Amino acid sequence: MIDPKVSFFLLELLFFFFLQLGSSFCRQGKRVSSFLLPATLSSRKMATRAALKFVRECSVYRKVKSNNISKHSFSTSSSTTTHTPQPPFPKKVTQLSKKGRLFTGVAVGLLIGGGAYASTVDEATFCGWLFSATKLVNPFFAFLDPEVAHRLAVSAAARGWVPIEKRPDPTILELEVWGRRFTNPLGLSAGFDKNAEAVEGLLGLGFGFVEVGSVTPVPQEGNPKPRIFRLPKEGAIINRCGFNGEGIVAVAKRLGAQHGKRKLETSSTSSPNGDEVINGGKAGPESLGLILERIRLLYADLIVHTNHLQVINISSPNTPGLRQLQGRKQLKDLVKKVQAARDEMQWGEEGPPPLLVKIAPDLSKQDLEDIAAVALDLRIDGLIISNTTIQRPDSVCNNPVAEETGGLSGKPLFSLSTDILKDMYVLTKGKIPLIGCGGVGSGEDAYKKIRAGATLVQLYTAFAYGGPALIPKIKAELAQCLERDGYQSIHEAVGADCR
Ligand SMILES: Cc1cc2nc3c(=O)[nH]c(=O)nc-3n(C[C@H](O)[C@H](O)[C@H](O)COP(=O)(O)O)c2cc1C
Repeated sequence: MIDPKVSFFLLELLFFFFLQLGSSFCRQGKRVSSFLLPATLSSRKMATRAALKFVRECSVYRKVKSNNISKHSFSTSSSTTTHTPQPPFPKKVTQLSKKGRLFTGVAVGLLIGGGAYASTVDEATFCGWLFSATKLVNPFFAFLDPEVAHRLAVSAAARGWVPIEKRPDPTILELEVWGRRFTNPLGLSAGFDKNAEAVEGLLGLGFGFVEVGSVTPVPQEGNPKPRIFRLPKEGAIINRCGFNGEGIVAVAKRLGAQHGKRKLETSSTSSPNGDEVINGGKAGPESLGLILERIRLLYADLIVHTNHLQVINISSPNTPGLRQLQGRKQLKDLVKKVQAARDEMQWGEEGPPPLLVKIAPDLSKQDLEDIAAVALDLRIDGLIISNTTIQRPDSVCNNPVAEETGGLSGKPLFSLSTDILKDMYVLTKGKIPLIGCGGVGSGEDAYKKIRAGATLVQLYTAFAYGGPALIPKIKAELAQCLERDGYQSIHEAVGADCR
């Protein structure tokens, strides 16, 4: 994650880059690199020293050059000599050096002026700038193939090449669910960080929680590419990824590495393919695989890192037969198995992780009633509503991409998933915390989900289009919505439209 001071330094490097560009017109690359290298490698102090050295060298160079040129003009005018000395630089370079000097002057001016101004602003303002600046890269990402863009974004977040949210969340957004504290209710939904590569970076962006996965028991290729399609005008995506991922062993290792071993205690057991595995307590990798079969780990806030929430995903449209597990009997059997596997394992003093089920938006009233009954009966801790839809609402029908097979997400999914959310809130009598997901792209959308019965909210597609700058924006708007309607907390607003 980029610390504002580091970012400031990077900004300065950008200026140095311009300096180099300017100086390259002067053909003095060697000299410039003498300060550019230390600038990249070490402290600003070194860079400043090297920059001063560079400026000194430049002035020496100018003196030498003017001497050479005057010598040269002298020798050419006295054409009596047999040997004509070569001018130190071709004539063209003398013209370019003017441009170079201009560039260098502008860059130095910007560096000093920008640096002086930036040093006067507080950390919060600077942080705001950084988030806004990320909008500049959105067109570049939009230009790339969706899967390449996604890979790049995950890698950037994994390496910490993303801004870090230093501003505290508005207190009105704070809440406690399942005994866990969330600084805000906005989470990143499944599918973005399938392999848990970038949890820290993504949480650092200001999400209240990050869901990783879906994780499968063994590594899977998923469906053939292309399998992600953009519908930018409609603010939508169609995907048929089909659970591509590195599998549970790789994910468990990463999570263990990132978050210590409070929950994922190290045991040098070997997995069936010989890899050393980090697993939960007495359970071996097989039972971890069992419990995590079609289950994802849900990360919630830094405090909650050590005790994940688990989500059973039975709603992806891209795995044949998976959605049938949402039937009353099938769901009951599956949840019982998972609960039994979970209870067999040793957990810390916080107890076993809450178990959630993620459902599809394409369910009939009867399906919803069945799921609600199972959820209440087996005391499922929460429901995520919803996954992508196989429907194609009118708003996307004119786009030929809509004919692609797969699940539709983003704006066109908003009302469909919010209606199901409302139904489920009523059916479960508000007794089960619900996570509202589908088409959230603004604070107003998040607020509508909360009023429809969601305690927490997730998004994916809007983040894919809007990037990091969207997160603080949604949080600020949501806080405004709550205050506007006189709520003191999120809990007060949950289900307001269903009463
Ligand atoms: C490219 C892509 C991959 C996804 N992968 C998963 C997944 O592996 N597991 C899952 O439960 N949901 C997955 N989803 C669904 C999202 O988590 C989310 O439920 C859905 O996109 C609706 O939210 P949105 O409208 O904010 O995108 C994926 C969505 C997209 C666009």
